[in-house]
Amino acid sequence: MSRVAVIGAGYVGLTTAACLAHLGHDVVCADIDERRVAELRKGEVSILEDGLPELVAEGLQARRLRFIVGAAAAAPEAEFVFLCVPTPQGDDGAADLSFVEDVVREIAAALRAGSVIVNKSTMPVGSTRLVRRRLAEHRPHLDDIKVASNPEFLREGTAVHDFLNPARVVIGCDDAGTAVRVSDLYRTVNAPILVTDAASAEMIKYASNAFLATKISFVNAIANLCEAVDADVRDVTLGMGYDPRIGFEFLNPGPGYGGSCFPKDTAALLHTAFRAGYSFSLLQGAVDVNRRQHERMVEKVSMLAGGQLEGVQVAAWGLTFKADTDDLRDSPAIAIVRRLIEQGARVRAYDPAAGERAAALVDGLEVVIDPYDAVREARVLALLTEWDEFRWADFERVHDLMEVPALLDARNLLDPVALRRRGFTYHGVGR
Ligand SMILES: NC(=O)c1ccc[n+]([C@@H]2O[C@H](COP(=O)([O-])OP(=O)(O)OC[C@H]3O[C@@H](n4cnc5c(N)ncnc54)[C@H](O)[C@@H]3O)[C@@H](O)[C@H]2O)c1
Repeated sequence: MSRVAVIGAGYVGLTTAACLAHLGHDVVCADIDERRVAELRKGEVSILEDGLPELVAEGLQARRLRFIVGAAAAAPEAEFVFLCVPTPQGDDGAADLSFVEDVVREIAAALRAGSVIVNKSTMPVGSTRLVRRRLAEHRPHLDDIKVASNPEFLREGTAVHDFLNPARVVIGCDDAGTAVRVSDLYRTVNAPILVTDAASAEMIKYASNAFLATKISFVNAIANLCEAVDADVRDVTLGMGYDPRIGFEFLNPGPGYGGSCFPKDTAALLHTAFRAGYSFSLLQGAVDVNRRQHERMVEKVSMLAGGQLEGVQVAAWGLTFKADTDDLRDSPAIAIVRRLIEQGARVRAYDPAAGERAAALVDGLEVVIDPYDAVREARVLALLTEWDEFRWADFERVHDLMEVPALLDARNLLDPVALRRRGFTYHGVGR
């Protein structure tokens, strides 16, 4: 078993740390956020992830998982240092690697000889080399430290399950011995391990996310076309999905993709293509469709409100970027609610997990803790995130509380026939 440092205790870092401890490694997880570290030491997990509090408790109890403030304090003992810090979108669309560079600067002198830096954050092609260059600036004897890429494919909401049961583990390194050492960390995980050169591993992560984003935009474009020609996208995607070459995953039309990965990773890949002199118009098209899809949802609400939004009371159900997560980063629901308010609507929203944090993101947004409070006197209810509880809502009550029973089901979660029978004007996506 190995001694591992994980830098960053967010969605990816905390999951990586807790899961590696579960697999038997000795893990120290570092963050700059002192409050988060203090909470984690007490076993308090502030992010919503199924099974994560249990694994953190298990690691703490077995003394295989510790939390510490600051990357430099975590580095000296570690054989492997996993970088799990943010790589947000920069002003030019490229991935902003300043968090990564900060960590490299912090840990350079403290790293023990023979240790491996593992890039788990999503970083563009060339980042493994960049980390080596930055390291060289702060550490003259660079050759005693190796750098590998090991991109993460977990999905928020099922992060622990995905980490422990991955479809594949990708390890990219220009040094075969180092790749074997990193792959050994995963030896008890039942998954194919793909060892590649560093650039290919970095590209696999971006290509995968760009492909999934394109699949979503493709199905949204088909849904929009279904609306124009009177076809039902639910039947269309069912008929497509049975083809194993297509599959059912990522075939649900909706308000467009969002979250902390697809928007920034597609932008970063477009930037990589631009710098490489390749015109990636297919991916640009997927990004454009996505932006317009948010706007289409705003137009649907406006249409349901009678053609204009000024002074209209709108209820929003769901604010997180998808169900079963508390993550609001780049959420389509937030973008839609913001546009509705800009166009004069008054929006009262309910989300099972986002709570008050959402109110701080959008000027003028009122957030309530009861879904029925949100619909009171509303002229349109917009269901924006596919939380399961909305399926089982009391629509009799919703009907009575609304001023006008009009509903935009931006996730095609509900049964239009049943709702129309109850007197709702129902609009979905592509049906
Ligand atoms: N969230 C996902 O679903 C997901 C999936 C796959 C890959 N990724 C990638 O993983 C990376 C991390 O994403 P995330 O969602 O976990 O981010 P996050 O914001 O949830 O967590 C990042 C953590 O790093 C900490 N941090 C920042 N600078 C630090 C420093 N100098 N020292 C120590 N800690 C520091 C922050 O305080 C924060 O807790 C990104 O590159 C992202 O693209 C994310």
